[in-house]
Amino acid sequence: MKRRITAAQIREWKGGAPFPMITAYDAPFASICEEAGVELLLVGDSYGMVSLGLDATTQVELDDLVRASAAVARGTQRAHIVTDLPFASFERSDEHAIASAVRLVKYGFAGSVKLEGDGAMAKRAAAIVAAGIPVMGHIGVRPQTAALSSGFRRQRDGDRLLEDAVAFERAGAYAVVLEMVDDDAARRVTKKLSIPTIGIGSGAECDGQVLVLHDVLGLYPDPPPFAKRYADLRTICIDAVRAYGEGVRSRQFPEAR
Ligand code: KIV
Repeated sequence: MKRRITAAQIREWKGGAPFPMITAYDAPFASICEEAGVELLLVGDSYGMVSLGLDATTQVELDDLVRASAAVARGTQRAHIVTDLPFASFERSDEHAIASAVRLVKYGFAGSVKLEGDGAMAKRAAAIVAAGIPVMGHIGVRPQTAALSSGFRRQRDGDRLLEDAVAFERAGAYAVVLEMVDDDAARRVTKKLSIPTIGIGSGAECDGQVLVLHDVLGLYPDPPPFAKRYADLRTICIDAVRAYGEGVRSRQFPEAR
């Protein structure tokens, strides 16, 4: 049995060649990502919008991500799987946060969990780390609460972002996602921390980058401006399904035996 890449190994990627992280929500696409050489897979709560057709990540349940995470694990062998702690699964207390993280590890086979929050929420990360589960922090724009508070505006307060990032590092996080952070602030944070930063819409100076798989593949109709589409699978899929439908209607499929 091949051993999976650990959070401790990912921590060592700090300052090396920039590395990719990509979201995955099911076994076949996870296996494609692994075969394509991406070693860090995020079972993000973007799953709610991308795959479940929900309006916001606040509607994602812990059980949704347990199931998606387990599917990603079944589709891969070596990739590290980091799974989101969804909205309302960690805020209440350390005990609640640990119980949620344990479910993601025990039944979702996650190798670590990701937790969105500012510096004040880093104490939850510390509790989860103390329970033996590696944590990736997520600062800057935090979609779980953005819609309820400041919205999805680019984060420019470098001092504040630095405080939040350092709080997660001190809490024992092995990496921190910077979402829609001003490029200069992302550079400052990346320089200061001894753990990797992983940017999304935060410029080129982070240690790693993350994108949503469906944006990369061109499967999602409304990608954010910072995403890059590397293929137009939506058109390919529509053409393939249309050809199948026409094949059935015209009796060309199935072929006569
Ligand atoms: O849920 C998600 O996909 C994320 C990434 C956008 C970082 O948190």
